[in-house]
Amino acid sequence: MNTKNLSTDPYKGVRDFYPKDMAVQQYIYDTWSQTAESFGFARYDASILEPSDIYKAKGAANEEMVNDQTYTFVDRGDREVTLRPEMTPTVARLVAKKSRELAFPLRWYSIPNLFRYERPQKGRLREHWQLNCDLFGIDDIAADVEIIALANQLLLDFGAKPNQFEIRINSRKVYIDFLKSVGDSVGIELADETCLDILRLRDRQDKVDAKTYIEELKTIIGSPDSFDDFLKQLEARDNVTSFNSEGFDDLEKIGNGLLKLGITNIKRDSKISRGFDYYTGVIFEIFEVDEHANYTGRALLGGGRYDNLTSMFGGEAVPGIGFGMGDVTMRDFLETHNLLPENIEKTAAHVAIIPLNEAEYMPAQALAHQIRQAGFSVSTDIGSRKMQKKYSDAKENGSKFVIVIGEDEVKTGIITVKNLNSGTEEKGEIGQLMNFLSVE
Ligand code: HAM
Repeated sequence: MNTKNLSTDPYKGVRDFYPKDMAVQQYIYDTWSQTAESFGFARYDASILEPSDIYKAKGAANEEMVNDQTYTFVDRGDREVTLRPEMTPTVARLVAKKSRELAFPLRWYSIPNLFRYERPQKGRLREHWQLNCDLFGIDDIAADVEIIALANQLLLDFGAKPNQFEIRINSRKVYIDFLKSVGDSVGIELADETCLDILRLRDRQDKVDAKTYIEELKTIIGSPDSFDDFLKQLEARDNVTSFNSEGFDDLEKIGNGLLKLGITNIKRDSKISRGFDYYTGVIFEIFEVDEHANYTGRALLGGGRYDNLTSMFGGEAVPGIGFGMGDVTMRDFLETHNLLPENIEKTAAHVAIIPLNEAEYMPAQALAHQIRQAGFSVSTDIGSRKMQKKYSDAKENGSKFVIVIGEDEVKTGIITVKNLNSGTEEKGEIGQLMNFLSVE
């Protein structure tokens, strides 16, 4: 038998949430839900387990994710199963399954936990929670504007100021047309597929060293003689707009639409590529602006338009646009900018009952039950700790009222309720004291 003690650490790259951490998580989830619902989004969910095929299908894939980052296993029935690394293929599956019955447009949101086998580091873990908001059934700039406005509103609802973050926007069409024009300028004709390969490589440029990047790019381009010129042009023409693309029109209309909603912290960024193959139109990410010591340079949120994803399940393509916003980066942002509400960790019950002796444990439970029936949260601090300690903990942890019960209280049924904030007290039978407890 192995006599070595087991480690109490969680699995690498995932977190344990003790109650104080969970209180912060819950605040993030609640804010996410409230903002999404304020735009008329309805919540859905699905299992963490998905058939692996939905990440491998053409048009859904992100090679790096499928090959290196998924947690995949074969179950006892020989099925290949993956812990979902993102929610978009799942929501596309749900929409495709019922596309005939669903009344479009759909505005759906979810807060799934996702698993990616990444090298754990600040802002990147192996399990994270991600708000997903997606709008299906509208292929119109108005939907793009709405989704980006929702992304913006989320930051505002967390208390962020518009000058603390920036919406960086680009378009898949512009990106592809840009690469093609760079190719044209040095006599290389690039197919759409090749452009996607370049895009994916550039998306993970910061994860590979410079030499590997160049080698891989060379292999993708496949024209050794013109490669140096291609590379020079690619770098020189970043952010250049002297080529035609219908994507530019979209970007302009979206920019104007957002301006009408008072959203001005938006910037076109030709480097935004988004690693997933399924994007077809506008793509965007939100970044923190402030480059302070804790700055990770990681996006708080990312998304875009994907108009063909549901067709991998057969049937008609349903246009979609949406984004994902992670809890890890959001939490870092809230902590850095001091935006977490005060007292967020004070989760104690409204009323704390402290029995003086063991004989009052059960009467304390009965009293708690009675007060809960009236709609208040109640805890009973049974156990042998000192009365004073129990009292100060109740206050410290955020209870509003304390009731101490001893032999006399049990005998007479007359109790004293103390308001911990104001210090006032009221005495009587519990039925007469409920109003007193209503005070916040
Ligand atoms: P994504 O850019 O991979 O997009 O992730 C969106 C956000 O999730 C990131 O900006 C980041 O905040 C967070 N995130 C991603 N990976 C990690 C990680 N390993 N650790 C911590 N946080 C992470 C998607 O997943 C798309 N499916 C989003 C989407 C929805 N597009 C359309 N609809």
